[in-house]
Amino acid sequence: MKRVFLETYGCQMNVADSELMAGVLERAGLELVARPEDADAVILNTCAIREHAELRVLGRLGEFARLKRENPALIVGVAGCMAQHLRKKLLESKRVLDLVVGPDGYRDLPNLLLRAAGAPVAEIRLDRDETYGDLEPKRDAGVRAWVTVQRGCDKFCTYCVVPFTRGRERSIPLVDLVRQVEHAASQGFREIVFLGQTVNSWRHDSHDFSDLLRAANDVPGVRRIRFTSPHPSDMTDRVLDAMGSCEKVMPHVHLPLQSGSDRILTAMNRTYDMARFREVVEGLRSRVPGIALSTDIIVGFPGETEEDFEATSAYMRETRFDSAFLFKYSARPDTRAFKWPETVSEEEKGRRLTLLIEQQMGIGAEINDTLLGSEVEVLVENISHRDSSQLYGKSRDFKTVVFGNDGTPPGDLARVRVVGTTAVTLLGESLKTPASSPLVSIGG
Ligand code: 5AD
Ligand code: SF4
Repeated sequence: MKRVFLETYGCQMNVADSELMAGVLERAGLELVARPEDADAVILNTCAIREHAELRVLGRLGEFARLKRENPALIVGVAGCMAQHLRKKLLESKRVLDLVVGPDGYRDLPNLLLRAAGAPVAEIRLDRDETYGDLEPKRDAGVRAWVTVQRGCDKFCTYCVVPFTRGRERSIPLVDLVRQVEHAASQGFREIVFLGQTVNSWRHDSHDFSDLLRAANDVPGVRRIRFTSPHPSDMTDRVLDAMGSCEKVMPHVHLPLQSGSDRILTAMNRTYDMARFREVVEGLRSRVPGIALSTDIIVGFPGETEEDFEATSAYMRETRFDSAFLFKYSARPDTRAFKWPETVSEEEKGRRLTLLIEQQMGIGAEINDTLLGSEVEVLVENISHRDSSQLYGKSRDFKTVVFGNDGTPPGDLARVRVVGTTAVTLLGESLKTPASSPLVSIGG
């Protein structure tokens, strides 16, 4: 068993976990391959956040079942948040799955793969102490390094399966994180993104998240720092102050609201009300003028009335998020809300979702239009996939900017004037002064 194909579904935490698995596998002498057809083992890193995510993974497993019929020695493994649910499938007579490994079992992955070649293996125990803080991930090439600072979640929002699939919250020690940031910077990564389910509740010994931001801000070579996703209740003044004073911390925050109705926020066990959320937004806007805000919203939570929904919609008009991820509520096994009767029909959830999408598209476009003619600083990521004469990257406030290739290499900052917008992208013009034409000798 030598070659492994690894495919990732779901959130950024899973992307980072796949990089961690890739590091573990390569250090054990295994090779990662780009096509499942070339692999001795395939591993799907899965997501269970909504039913739709699970259905996609099950569809993909069907494709691997066909591959396995052609090559019965192929090991098919499932990692990540669906591990718990898929354990039963291991025991089915028509065996497709050989390995199920939960989010805390990755340290031992090479060994588990070897064992799975003999008999089916399930390693789904959650481990209160596992942080992988000492393990170096194999980071995907690029300008951005994802650094997991915390695993698991203790918030128990009543709709959310994460506390059950990922277990209790654990923070990685500050020294390990600073070492990871320094290492990523020395490898040429220019942007650090701290990851955690409630990233700003990170704390270790006497340090809190503000100390982590300040420590990362001091690492030479790092140009930009971001983090996702913070929980509104953990946005303390210390964190807000650090955001205001660390020049490398970028002016954008993804701050999940979920609902604009206090009644629904209570039912969701979000631990803040709208008054507190407004305070946090004001705190952010006063410390970091012009900060961009994005959010997550769930429509159709059990008990959500038209009035509750209207409160969400009205708050989104008032606050004017730059962008929003909008979801229909999906009942998840193990969660508290799973037992509650669904009061909003699929059709009505669809109607509410469409209304919010249209409203948000309008607001996002208006905000982007205000940027027309302004200058933005872009961290260049690469040449555009669609048009090789264009470069793309992110502005400081996390908007994608596409502009004519002025020769700025990936990882460098470009100054760009915004000359057009689409719903999701800014179109720009380089402000780089062209290098003076080289003198050409016309012969002697
Ligand atoms: N149904 C719909 N959306 C959900 N999310 C989490 N759980 C559910 C669920 N059961 C959304 C939340 C969260 C984002 C990552 O996914 O908005 O912030
Ligand atoms: Fe899920 Fe709530 Fe934890 Fe976020 S804070 S991962 S929504 S339980």
